[in-house]
Amino acid sequence: MSPATTTSAAAVRATGVGKVFPTKAGEVVALTGVELEVRAGEFVSLIGPSGCGKSTLLRLIADLDPASSGELSIFGKPAAQARVDQDYGIAFQQAGLLPWRTVASNIGLPLELHKVGRAERTARVAELAELVGLTEFVDRYPDQLSGGMQQRVAIARALASRPKLLLMDEPFGALDEMTREYLQSELTRIAAETEAAVVFVTHSIPEAVFLSDRVVVMSPRPGRITDVITTDFGHDRDDALRESPEYFERVTAVREALHGVKVERANER
Ligand SMILES: Nc1ncnc2c1ncn2[C@@H]1O[C@H](COP(=O)(O)OP(=O)(O)O)[C@@H](O)[C@H]1O
Ligand SMILES: [Mg+2]
Repeated sequence: MSPATTTSAAAVRATGVGKVFPTKAGEVVALTGVELEVRAGEFVSLIGPSGCGKSTLLRLIADLDPASSGELSIFGKPAAQARVDQDYGIAFQQAGLLPWRTVASNIGLPLELHKVGRAERTARVAELAELVGLTEFVDRYPDQLSGGMQQRVAIARALASRPKLLLMDEPFGALDEMTREYLQSELTRIAAETEAAVVFVTHSIPEAVFLSDRVVVMSPRPGRITDVITTDFGHDRDDALRESPEYFERVTAVREALHGVKVERANER
C-alpha cells in the first residue's frame, strides 16, 4: 500500500462541529460549522482574535466539553472514548504542576494514574526529563523553577504516556520572548521525535507560522474557520527559518487572512 493510502486514521477529524453556550444573556454561538482534519504527525495551529473559539475547539477535541452539533473523532474514535483511552496529552497556559511534588513525580503522574510499575516509571521519567532538558532538575519542586522550566515539565508530563496527539492551549503565552522561541524550537524537535500530531492554540502569528505545517485562521461571532495556510517548511525548523523569505511570506499570509484582506481584495474585483 502506498503511503498516500495508509489506513491510519486522522489524529483529529471534526465534521460540522458547533458549540452553543446557553447564558443568562442568551445563547452564545462559540463555534459553527467547523470542518478540520489533522493528520497523524501533523502540527496544526489555531489562531484568531480573543473569543473566536480556539479554546472551545480544543476543549471539544479533548472531550472536556460536549459539542452541540457535528461529529468529532480522535484516531477514528469518538472523543469520549479517546479521553478514556488517554490518546492525547494536554498542556495549557498555566503549567498546572502540583507544588508538593518534585519535577520527577509531576512528570510521572500520568504513569501513576495508569498504574505503570515503579521501575518502568522511573526509567520513563528519566527519558522524558532528558527529552525536555531537565535531567539535572528532577528533584526540584515547581517553585524552584523558572516559568520556562515549569512549562517544560508540563510538556514532559503531557508526553508521559506516549500520546500520538498533543493538545496545547497557549502553553508559552506567559513566557518572555527568548524563552518562548527556545521552547518553540524544542517543541518542534520533540513533536518530530515522538511523531505526535499537535493541535496548538496561539494568538501569535510568528509562533503559529514557525511551529505549524498548517495554520488554521479563525474569526469570531460566530467562531468559525475562515482560512487555512500551509507552510511547507517540513522538519527544517531552526533559527535560520525565522529570518528566511519563506517565513516572512507565510507570516504575511496569515496576517492578511486574520485581517480579512483577501476577502476585501476579492470584493474589489
Ligand atoms: N463556559 C462558557 N459559557 C459561556 N460562554 C462561553 C464559555 N466558554 C466560552 N464562551 C464564549 O465562547 C466564545 C469563545 O470562547 P473561547 O473559546 O474561550 O475563545 P478563545 O480561546 O478563542 O479566546 C467567547 O464568546 C466566550 O465568551
Ligand atoms: Mg482561549
